[in-house]
Amino acid sequence: MTLSLSQKEYLDLMGIDVWVARGSSASNEMQEMEVNEFPASQTLNELKSTVSTCTKCRLHAGRIQTVFGAGSHEADWMLIGEAPGAEEDKQGMPFVGRAGKLLTAMLASIGLDREKVFIANILKCRPPNNRDPSADEVLACDDYLKTQIKIIQPKMILALGRIAAQNLLKSDVPIGKMRGKIYQYGEAEIPVVVTYHPAYLLRSPREKRKSWQDLQLAVQLYKGTDN
Ligand code: URA
Ligand code: SF4
Repeated sequence: MTLSLSQKEYLDLMGIDVWVARGSSASNEMQEMEVNEFPASQTLNELKSTVSTCTKCRLHAGRIQTVFGAGSHEADWMLIGEAPGAEEDKQGMPFVGRAGKLLTAMLASIGLDREKVFIANILKCRPPNNRDPSADEVLACDDYLKTQIKIIQPKMILALGRIAAQNLLKSDVPIGKMRGKIYQYGEAEIPVVVTYHPAYLLRSPREKRKSWQDLQLAVQLYKGTDN
């Protein structure tokens, strides 16, 4: 599978340096590119900094730190989980515990590098004892995820587990019935595929086969997009 690379990444891969004379039209183009690209990552960084001091819901009181999400700001794939666990709360990074290791392996199985996707959660702070997020916490945190999706504009969203799927798609259908289908998110109609949460797969390894089918569905769908 080929993932879309920016023109610069192609040129880098081919070992081609681009030298542009000052004042030429190509140089103006380069400047325009920089002007257009810089604010996007700046906006994501700004949002991260806003989130880091957020006190919009009760979960701020028990956290070590917020877990904003991590990965490429230009990712084609966005993965959305539930909320940070103990290890994520400690490290400030999403999916770094046991479930995270499985997630990394799942991504690798379809040729995706963790660094090339963007991984986020419905909630940015850890619920005590990893209890389910409450409706008011999800509502308080909702804008951050919406804005992340708006900035990154992924071509494929993978919702991991019931909490992510139901909240993202405003549905109360059980996860077993949501998986294996294609949904769309927002005005941009970004394709969404739902699959089991890796923590659930650790407890129920027999479901890994279905999860593999979900990943295949997402890959087929992604290949069909104009990337
Ligand atoms: N589970 C999640 O849903 N998200 C994480 O970041 C880690 C575990
Ligand atoms: Fe703010 Fe979200 Fe953390 Fe609640 S969970 S304090 S809304 S960042």
